[in-house]
Amino acid sequence: GESGPLAGKHILVTAGPTHEPIDPVRVIANRSSGKQGFAIARAAAAAGARVTLIAGPVSLPTPPGVGRIDVETAVQMRDAVMGALPADAAIMVAAVADWRVEVADSKLKKGKGPPALEWHANPDILAELGEHPDRPGLLVGFAAETNDVVTNAKGKLERKKADWIVANDVSGNVMGGDNNRIHLVSADGVDDWEDLPKSAVAQRLIEKIAESIA
Ligand code: C5P
Repeated sequence: GESGPLAGKHILVTAGPTHEPIDPVRVIANRSSGKQGFAIARAAAAAGARVTLIAGPVSLPTPPGVGRIDVETAVQMRDAVMGALPADAAIMVAAVADWRVEVADSKLKKGKGPPALEWHANPDILAELGEHPDRPGLLVGFAAETNDVVTNAKGKLERKKADWIVANDVSGNVMGGDNNRIHLVSADGVDDWEDLPKSAVAQRLIEKIAESIA
């Protein structure tokens, strides 16, 4: 985009789940439709930003004007994010798998009984950005919580050195749904939003980001 409140800005968005392979046919994944992240990428592009959307495996069309990089795993997502820097703002919406396993070269056979998997921690992309020499000017994380929503979000804000955490109450019917209930947590306090469609959450968030990085 050439005009709009985010003209001249580069906005990085992650969205969707990651898939961590177990063997050539099986994966470990988080539940994430990618809808909220894609809506944010769409709103950022409509506001005139250059948008890099780094997407895990989802079946969603690329929003108009958005540059999309598809990845499968958390490590690939991390590498794509770091490769896309510098950015004026980064909005980490992806539901990244916390762990991956040592991948078997061939399909694990049922007859051998349940396999023992060797687990490794995945990189925390948001936390790595928080400490990166090219840290985006505004760093926004998401936190899907079912309980103690705001308390947990405040912990994440500090631990991951983010500027805002968009805390998402997923105790209701949010996963895969079209609405979201948001608490925007920052050093300034907590802003409770009413139940909104994901497109409206995206719009409001992009307006706040435009004010913040203008
Ligand atoms: O710790 P938790 O997964 O709840 O934190 C959620 C936030 O951190 C989201 O913004 C998510 O995109 C980001 N995250 C990440 N890399 C991970 C795990 C989470 O960027 N490995």
